Amino acid sequence: MDAKDRIVNDGVIVVNGGKIEFVGTFDDVPGSFGTETYRSIISASGCVAIPGLVNTHTHSPMCLMRGYADDLPLQEWLEQKIFPVEARLSPEDTYWAAMLSCIEMIKSGTTTFADMYFSMDDVARAVEEVRMRACLSVGITSDETDYEPKLRDVASFCERWHNQAGGRITTMFGPHAPYTCSPELLKDVSTLAHEMELGIHIHVSETYKEVEDIRAKYGVSPVELLNSCGVFDGRTLAAHCVALSEEDIAILAEKKVAVSHNPGSNMKLASGVAPLGKLIASGVTVGLGTDGSSSNNNLDMFEEMRLASLLHKVSNFDAVAVPAYTSLKMATIEGAKCLGLDYNIGSIETGKRADIAIVDFNQPHLVPRTDILSHLVYSAGGADVITVVVDGKVVMENRKIMTVDEEEVMEEVNFRAKKLLSGSNVD
Ligand code: NI
Repeated sequence: MDAKDRIVNDGVIVVNGGKIEFVGTFDDVPGSFGTETYRSIISASGCVAIPGLVNTHTHSPMCLMRGYADDLPLQEWLEQKIFPVEARLSPEDTYWAAMLSCIEMIKSGTTTFADMYFSMDDVARAVEEVRMRACLSVGITSDETDYEPKLRDVASFCERWHNQAGGRITTMFGPHAPYTCSPELLKDVSTLAHEMELGIHIHVSETYKEVEDIRAKYGVSPVELLNSCGVFDGRTLAAHCVALSEEDIAILAEKKVAVSHNPGSNMKLASGVAPLGKLIASGVTVGLGTDGSSSNNNLDMFEEMRLASLLHKVSNFDAVAVPAYTSLKMATIEGAKCLGLDYNIGSIETGKRADIAIVDFNQPHLVPRTDILSHLVYSAGGADVITVVVDGKVVMENRKIMTVDEEEVMEEVNFRAKKLLSGSNVD
């Protein structure tokens, strides 16, 4: 994923103080990196090291609702099933659920994720403990007529956590969507975000119904509405972008809005097919996201890469559409660009932070090793990742999570989900 798209055989990566100091072949390792100076060596014989994957859109605590109320129409699913459970969530529920999602992501090679939910201090706490990297947004809606106190809370969350946890946590503002935020709120959030030099993470044009409703209410498309409210004047990450007009695509390109493409969620909720080819051709930066695990239903970015390639081939009747390399780029360097972190992560290059996933290719479904890129997207799955490094620290080794007690987290989430889904609370 470097500028030259190199694949290094017999490769060595030297990491020091969380930073990548050398990438190249074994023969080219400078003599100054004598083996005696290495604190630890990870031998990855027969494996492939890739940049840690970047999930550009999820709601990590929603794993509590995984498998709950599936196969329902979107509005019924959301309003009658998900919202009532969310209303009962405690901060501790959020914390344990975020822990589980972080573990799930590490175990499938994801090292960075963009998250939007409420009670984000608890998510931040989980990210810090698990030692992942994340870009966190508190979801904001204009349910309350007086949203000023909420906005102040959100701004203080951003101040509290931006560039914290050794720089692994960054923040963005998270106005939920054009259909849940009034134009006044959108304008105020934009002004505040620009003042604080922070980005905005928002759901945009997820369904055709959303576009219809916004047109009926305001006479413009969601993209046009957000543009007129100043949302696109800073750095913006727009999730979904399924139902777009040519004019919308031109606006997104002109305003340099980054898009998080969520093929799994869009397919499961029958939202439609985002115009990925047109977005990329227009120069829009597109990353991949899983969305929450109650609409996917997992956080496996390998699956998302495969879905991205397959969905656009079949929907365009074009076997050439979205080749493996395009999907891998969206899941790594392009995702990093979406979060404004490409100067630091998204590729394995000297000078960048060491966020690396090691994929075990010593397995029947990855043999013969004819084409590594093809295998990563069309044959591999998250469970093939054996070791993960975040910011130079080994957070998973031989599939064992090194930072927290995985068993304890699974047990706690099982217990909490059972209570929550049966209509009671734990805390
Ligand atoms: Ni979402």
